[in-house]
Amino acid sequence: MKVILFGATGMVGQGVLRECFIDASVTEVLAVGRSPTGVQHAKLHEILHDNFTDFSKIESQLAGFDACFFCLGVSSIGMDAERYRHLTYDVTMAAATTLTRLNPGMVFTYVTGRGTDSTEQGSVRWARVKGKTENDLLKLPFKAAYMFRPAGIQPLHGVRSKTGWVNAIYVVTEPLLSWLVRSAPKYMTTSEKLGRAMIKVARDGYPKAVLESEDINSI
Ligand SMILES: NC(=O)c1ccc[n+]([C@@H]2O[C@H](COP(=O)([O-])OP(=O)(O)OC[C@H]3O[C@@H](n4cnc5c(N)ncnc54)[C@H](OP(=O)(O)O)[C@@H]3O)[C@@H](O)[C@H]2O)c1
Repeated sequence: MKVILFGATGMVGQGVLRECFIDASVTEVLAVGRSPTGVQHAKLHEILHDNFTDFSKIESQLAGFDACFFCLGVSSIGMDAERYRHLTYDVTMAAATTLTRLNPGMVFTYVTGRGTDSTEQGSVRWARVKGKTENDLLKLPFKAAYMFRPAGIQPLHGVRSKTGWVNAIYVVTEPLLSWLVRSAPKYMTTSEKLGRAMIKVARDGYPKAVLESEDINSI
């Protein structure tokens, strides 16, 4: 598979990138981001881009791909409603509509989160926005689209959060997180399991379009 990865510099994206390097079925990764990954690998090519609602300048480089792993996303904590909606809905849909036009046979996988509100009517703002984003992605004419809803994610193999104190928490709680991965798959997965699951689902398909944490862990 030739894949496009958004969010490769983030915690989820770093994990997906690592698994793409290891998995022989992934032959090429194009990372599209606003900052460089700092990673060198024979499979990896990067495009630095500055406008994530308009991809017209780089369109010619976005055709000919089999899958997209969309790991770009922000936390709603401390962010005003309109900015969160813009970065979650507008950015994701701009990328997805461009990609489906250029790659009719593409499989699109999107990382949302546990508690995403498919009804778009609930009381939790972030969950409604993620729900609308999922629902509208599922209407696009991709070959297939899959929504990944992890709960907690334990970073493994050097995957790091961009926030120093968050890394410190992961280090201190490592034994607890490892235990939760084993004993509470509804609430915890790892960056490795998530990356592997995204690759396998893009390659082989999955019976459900929305995958919760326990689905991710069982793949
Ligand atoms: N981490 C978790 O435990 C967890 C759990 C469940 C769900 N999720 C979901 O997974 C997704 C990714 O989370 P994460 O933890 O990987 O986040 P993260 O570490 O903060 O990384 C976010 C990624 O998105 C990119 N990005 C953010 N704002 C951008 C912008 N305005 N323009 C272009 N790129 C931008 C970042 O690029 P830069 O490097 O350029 O900033 C980075 O690559 C999110 O949707 C999140 O809700 C995460």
